[in-house]
Amino acid sequence: MKVTKKTANRIYLIGFMGSGKSTLGPMLAKSLDLDFVDLDDLIEEVEAMKISEIFERKGEQYFRNKEREILATTESYSNTVFATGGGLPCYNQNMKMIQKLGYSIYLELTPLQIFNRIKNSTNRPLVNRLSTVQLKQFIQDTLSKRVEYYNQAMTVVNAHQPIEKLVIECMIKIE
Ligand code: S3P
Repeated sequence: MKVTKKTANRIYLIGFMGSGKSTLGPMLAKSLDLDFVDLDDLIEEVEAMKISEIFERKGEQYFRNKEREILATTESYSNTVFATGGGLPCYNQNMKMIQKLGYSIYLELTPLQIFNRIKNSTNRPLVNRLSTVQLKQFIQDTLSKRVEYYNQAMTVVNAHQPIEKLVIECMIKIE
């Protein structure tokens, strides 16, 4: 694996909401014989609250700080694939930390592909209450700000393909 001893076989999947990090993650982990951890799940566990509840009761800033703290704890893991929240790489210099800790894969989609995947989403606090027009605009605006962080990933894969193919493509890129 390209993932070196120094990075202890840690692989971080990054990308916008709906890019398939939480779906791909367990499959990739299984194929590589690694563990899988979803960082949003870890935050929910530590906070004993759903992400949407954290946003509602404590605010986005609090959530972003938690993301940073949880990301830092991944240094103690090895042989693990991590799914990260869509905003995580774009705040608090987190992308730098990811670079230091492991190998990163950006699951890339176009704004329209993202829209089609998240338009019926009910568990994402940033987009739940948006109309169709607002959601399209939000994706355009937010992706254009985030892409400079996502593109710092060590490799980029086209996420708009059957999941089995995506797993294979990621494995080839890593090996
Ligand atoms: C967020 C994405 C979500 C979750 C939170 C904020 C974002 O994760 O972390 O709702 O800022 O894009 P997914 O990318 O897994 O939906």
